[in-house]
Amino acid sequence: MVQLSLPKNSKLSKGKDWPAISSGKRMKTFKIYRYDPADGQGPRWDSYQIDLDECGPMVLDALFKIKNEIDPTLSFRRSCREGVCGSCAMNIGGRNTLACTKGIDEVGGGNTITISPLPHMPVVRDLVPDLSQFYAQYASIEPWLHTSEAEPEKEFKQSPEDREKLNGLYECILCASCSTSCPSYWWNGDRYLGPAALLQAYRWLVDSRDEDTSKRLDDLEDPFKLYRCHTIMNCANVCPKGLNPAKAIAEVKKMMVERA
Ligand code: SF4
Ligand code: FES
Repeated sequence: MVQLSLPKNSKLSKGKDWPAISSGKRMKTFKIYRYDPADGQGPRWDSYQIDLDECGPMVLDALFKIKNEIDPTLSFRRSCREGVCGSCAMNIGGRNTLACTKGIDEVGGGNTITISPLPHMPVVRDLVPDLSQFYAQYASIEPWLHTSEAEPEKEFKQSPEDREKLNGLYECILCASCSTSCPSYWWNGDRYLGPAALLQAYRWLVDSRDEDTSKRLDDLEDPFKLYRCHTIMNCANVCPKGLNPAKAIAEVKKMMVERA
């Protein structure tokens, strides 16, 4: 298991142990990072007990149960509940993943599950990280087709072989689990683009319809933007979609060498 550090500036105090609202044979404790910048108290750990026989199977189900039945002030992001929007990414049991696709029974660590926001990001509130920098970095790689061709009536076509090259890349849901599990990104996140943005950059570099390959490589030719990847591999280890950003980064580096 990849053990990850807590969000930036976290000195956590012990918070509240919320009383159980029911008792059963399958009680589980959820220890959750709480932070409200408006209350002036700083971050803390609150604990909640849930009877798993009265709860859905996923970690997101437990968060909903806590919010709906115990503590309505708990904040977290979610939308699709299907592993496609990326908004419920958080650190569960020491590992970045999606709360909606992670089964409660899949999380190790005994009878207590610890949940905190994605590591090393500023926290807006509770389990909600500030991803402004992450999205700005994604925008910086210009994630759209660069072409001088006139817009076709239906679509820009590709051969099946060229389309195949996008497999393992287009599936990225921008959940940020990879970038926020990467020590290089933790220490140089303002200058290193991080695994997610670089995987997306490679997705456009290998798109047969894109005409700006050279300019895209020029934009990445920088000691920090690309070359701060030290192949630590946490990114591939945690990606909930089974993608391998480290491999994509290695391919970008190879393209740099081959064009030199
Ligand atoms: S590569 Fe995987 S972990 Fe990284 S943002 Fe995309 S889906 Fe999330
Ligand atoms: S709620 Fe959309 S990925 Fe989890």
